[in-house]
This record gives sequence, C-alpha cells and structure tokens, in this order.
Amino acid sequence: MTQLPHQSDQAMASPAALRALIESRRAVRRFTAEPVSDAVIRDCLELAMLAPSSCNLQPWSFQVIREPALLARLHRVCMGQNAARAPLIIVVLARPDTWSQACSRIIEYWPEAEVPPRIRHFYGKTALLQYNQGPLGLFGLLKRQLVRLVGLRRPLMRRPNSHADMRLWAVKSTALAAQNLMLAFQSHGYSSCPMEGFDEKRLRRMLDIPRRALPVMLLAVGRQGEKGVYNPRLRFPQDQHVTWL
Ligand SMILES: Cc1cc2nc3c(=O)[nH]c(=O)nc-3n(C[C@H](O)[C@H](O)[C@H](O)COP(=O)(O)O)c2cc1C
Repeated sequence: MTQLPHQSDQAMASPAALRALIESRRAVRRFTAEPVSDAVIRDCLELAMLAPSSCNLQPWSFQVIREPALLARLHRVCMGQNAARAPLIIVVLARPDTWSQACSRIIEYWPEAEVPPRIRHFYGKTALLQYNQGPLGLFGLLKRQLVRLVGLRRPLMRRPNSHADMRLWAVKSTALAAQNLMLAFQSHGYSSCPMEGFDEKRLRRMLDIPRRALPVMLLAVGRQGEKGVYNPRLRFPQDQHVTWL
C-alpha cells in the first residue's frame, strides 16, 4: 500500500501568505480585455477540483466561456451587469445528477492497485442507498419514514432523502470548489467576481445545461481594470456571527 503523507510532511502555506491571498481577493467588476491563458485556466480548475466534496463524489462541473461572441450573449443573460463584461466566464454547475456515475468512477480511478473492500462496499452498496431517491422521489419518501422510526432509537444521518436534499447536497461541495477557483485565479494575479445575477432560463437555453444541473454561480475572471472594486471592504464583527461553546 502507498504510504500516505503525514500532514506535517506536506508543504504548508504560511498563515501570512494565506491571509494575504484571501485578503487580496475582492469582487472585481471591471476587467481589462487581456485574455486568460488556457494553462492558467487549467491550473485553477485543477485547484478548484481539489476542494473537499461529500463522500468525494465531486458533484460539480464547469463550462469555460472564452469565445467573444458567447461572452457578449452571456453579458446580456447577466442583465448587462458590469462584472459580466470579462474576457473569461466560468459557469459553475452543481451536479446532483452525477452521483451514481461518480460511485463507479471512484472504483475505476482508485489510485492504488487494489481497491480496498470497504471502498468497494461503500461505493457499490451503501452510497447507492444513501443517494438514490427513486422515480418521483418515492424511494426518498420511504427513506424519510424509515429514518423517522430508526432515529427514535439512535443518531443517524437524515439527509439527503429527497431530490431537494440532493440539490443542497451538490451545491455545498460545489460552492467550496468555486471558492478554490477564485483564490486560484487570485494567486495567478487575476481577479474575479462571483455572479448570481443572471437569467437562469436563458442561460440554460444558451449553454445547453443538463436539465438537473444547477448553475450555482457564474465566475467572471480577468485582470482588474480601472476602478474595478466599487466599495471598501465591509464585514460584520466576528462576535455577531460566532458562538463559542
Ligand atoms: C453567490 C454570490 C453571488 C454574487 N452575485 C453577484 C452579482 O451578480 N453581481 C455582482 O456584481 N456581485 C455579485 N457578488 C459579489 C458580492 O456582492 C461580493 O462578494 C460582496 O459584496 C462582498 O465583496 P467582496 O467579495 O469584495 O469582499 C456575488 C457574490 C456571491 C458569493
């Protein structure tokens, strides 16, 4: 079996370097026309996809838009907002619909010669029960009733047991990947703006987005333009948002 690196052996970013990177990211709404190279985009997507995901099922996908004609149409879909006038837009999709395929791919892509039996069992059996909601969500309904009963006696995971739960399930992991993506571009000297200000219906039609995929956000990316940051940074005091127990 391959020896897994111990955490202390791994390269660690210094707290100051991480802080500087996070602090330097702002929502930028004016970009220069300078294109972002495919090599940088690939590197950033790789880092995005190193985000943790529920059961490592990686329920995300990304559409990389660089074609000027498509970008111009996207700008309209984003209701003409300034941030959407960028040399690169990445559509970040949550994929509640890919878990079953991902279960098989975990076995297929397992990075060791032998797939451990516990992994085969989890992705071959447990996960199929855990994430399957059945036609019209009927299996999910059955699971919700079961969970109610069993939950009277012992703690257990109560979700995802509906298609709505599955959407939330996929969005959680995808949002983490989106944050990685923004920070990765930032580390390359590019700025970004996450956007949920878009017409979802028109976006779906324009990009042929799979029916069950969810556009979580569009990420505008480019070199920061003049007056690219509109407002000073504002965050609420920590003690209003944190409870220590
Ligand atoms: C999910 C999400 C959606 C957003 N949508 C938009 C948007 O459509 N247009 C925009 O200009 N900014 C958008 N923003 C950027 C926020 O307004 C911005 O992050 C916030 O004001 C804090 O500023 P900062 O990122 O510079 O710290 C969005 C941010 C997030 C996380």
